[in-house]
Amino acid sequence: MKGIILAGGSGTRLHPLTVAVNKHLLPVGAKPMVLRCLEKLIGGDIEEIAIVTNPEYVSNFSALLKSGKKYNCDITYKVQDEPGGIAQALSLCENFVGGDNCTVLLGDNMFDDSIKDDIINFNGDCKLFFKHVPDGFRYGVGVFDEENRLIEIKEKPKNITDAYCAIGAYIYNNSVFENIKKIEPSYRGELEISSVNNIYIKSEEYKVDYKFLESWWTDAGTIESYERANLYAYDEYSSTI
Ligand code: G1P
Repeated sequence: MKGIILAGGSGTRLHPLTVAVNKHLLPVGAKPMVLRCLEKLIGGDIEEIAIVTNPEYVSNFSALLKSGKKYNCDITYKVQDEPGGIAQALSLCENFVGGDNCTVLLGDNMFDDSIKDDIINFNGDCKLFFKHVPDGFRYGVGVFDEENRLIEIKEKPKNITDAYCAIGAYIYNNSVFENIKKIEPSYRGELEISSVNNIYIKSEEYKVDYKFLESWWTDAGTIESYERANLYAYDEYSSTI
């Protein structure tokens, strides 16, 4: 299993915090955000990890993480020249993943549940994770039938409030790179990860598994959610002293 952390994007919703600093290097509690993803991957016994980021920030990530030796992993840096969406960033890791499986984390997603067993026991084509949110219109959200079977993910559905967000953690086998090549840019001009996930969900050919998180999850893409991430981190810290 290979690990991938997607840490690009312009972070405009966090300006001015992200004018000079990549969002994923901002502190959340006592550590930079990206370390939280790194820990999740290492916790799943993953030893080879790629970080995808924008050209101007590669040196900041390598100053922090270096070769990965300190974290008992081997880190590769991949450059996303232009923002083109999550699936486009992931496509840059095709050679890195080779014939292996990959666990992909969005660098601004933080959660408490362990995904170690999901990583170690993965033997399907795609595994997704969901969490209830009160503001579904901000995310990719799952559509389920009466028997609780996942039938689709809708990206940023207008007017949807209570919903199950497909959080930024995905496990795939290497068919993901063929599937990325099949999708078209969305209305926002990006190759959406939800379009890739819908190929898996809607085709009989693939085995898709999913799980609902039990503990807290947040992204940190807006001032409000960044603050929420820090509050969770503070709770985590204060419970250890
Ligand atoms: C992205 C994904 C979305 C997912 C969300 C989780 O949204 O497109 O499907 O639910 O991350 O944080 P974005 O951060 O691009 O708005």
